[in-house]
Amino acid sequence: MIEEMMKKIEAVRDEAMKEVAFVSDAGSAEKWRVKYLGRKGAVPALLTEMGSLEAAERPVIGRQINDLKVVLTDEIERCIGSFAKMGQESAIARERIDITLPGRVIIPGNRHPIRQTMDYVVDIFTGMGFSVFEGPEIESDYYNFEALNVPKDHPARDMQDTFYVDGDSLLRTHTSPVQIHVMESHRPPVFMIAPGAVYRRDSDVSHSPMFYQVEGLMVDEHITFKDLKGVLTTFCRKVFGEKHGVRFRPSFFPFTEPSAEVDISCVMCGGTGCRVCKMSGWMEILGCGMVDPEVFKAVKYDPKKLTGFAFGVGIDRVAMLLYGINDIRLFYENDLRFLEQF
Ligand code: PHE
Repeated sequence: MIEEMMKKIEAVRDEAMKEVAFVSDAGSAEKWRVKYLGRKGAVPALLTEMGSLEAAERPVIGRQINDLKVVLTDEIERCIGSFAKMGQESAIARERIDITLPGRVIIPGNRHPIRQTMDYVVDIFTGMGFSVFEGPEIESDYYNFEALNVPKDHPARDMQDTFYVDGDSLLRTHTSPVQIHVMESHRPPVFMIAPGAVYRRDSDVSHSPMFYQVEGLMVDEHITFKDLKGVLTTFCRKVFGEKHGVRFRPSFFPFTEPSAEVDISCVMCGGTGCRVCKMSGWMEILGCGMVDPEVFKAVKYDPKKLTGFAFGVGIDRVAMLLYGINDIRLFYENDLRFLEQF
């Protein structure tokens, strides 16, 4: 009898050890444990079989069964422990950070030099109390020309070579049409500026087919040329510094009378004359003048009661002077080597 029991114990051990080799995860470990160590498992079954043994044989077999139980328990615990370790190792492998790799450089973007100049100019005028308006870039002939006292066939239309979209619509050649929109929809007084893109058929070192202007308009009773000079001189000094020379030179625009162009002393040579200012010592940055009564009539403002002045600043020109750039096309080529310098 005792031999038979010992063989059975051996057989259970062999089978359990063979099967434990196939245990590969928590689920199969639990199945194995139930099969051998569970309440109805093979090891407890051996214990019940002990009933048929002689009293003297029982302690011997009992000890052997107990030993088996300890061995199998150790075995399955070792097994489960190794899964946990493997899981942890693969997680570590997956999450490993290679601190020897070079870092990824983040290159922050910044505003385009034209946009920076635009924001700077707009800030100066809003600081003086002007409000900002915008208008469409595709305009009708009426807003771009007619309402600004440039009738059809007027020679002044040649000053600005126009891109036509179709019969009556065109790409605005200046921001002055925004003056008309604002006066049509607002009662005086009007203190406005209008920044935006404008288009002309023109392209060389100092002309681009698309460029930027900031329009300005100040209309009220008793506005005089003195106000125009005060506002625009202040503007020039703020942009270029107190020491810069500012000059008002008589000019012509159909929508202003009298008209002037404003020059500042050349930022390259300081006024002594160089290639950039064509030896004149001066550089033009804006056009301006007192609003022509014909323009007031077009927007149904009373020219007997109201006066005002208008101006248009070339933003690209200001940017070229501020940054010392002698070719306007650099602004529009999107060459990062150029743009990164701002
Ligand atoms: N619109 C003119 C231009 O583009 C500039 C200007 C604006 C002149 C307002 C006088 C008054 O050249």
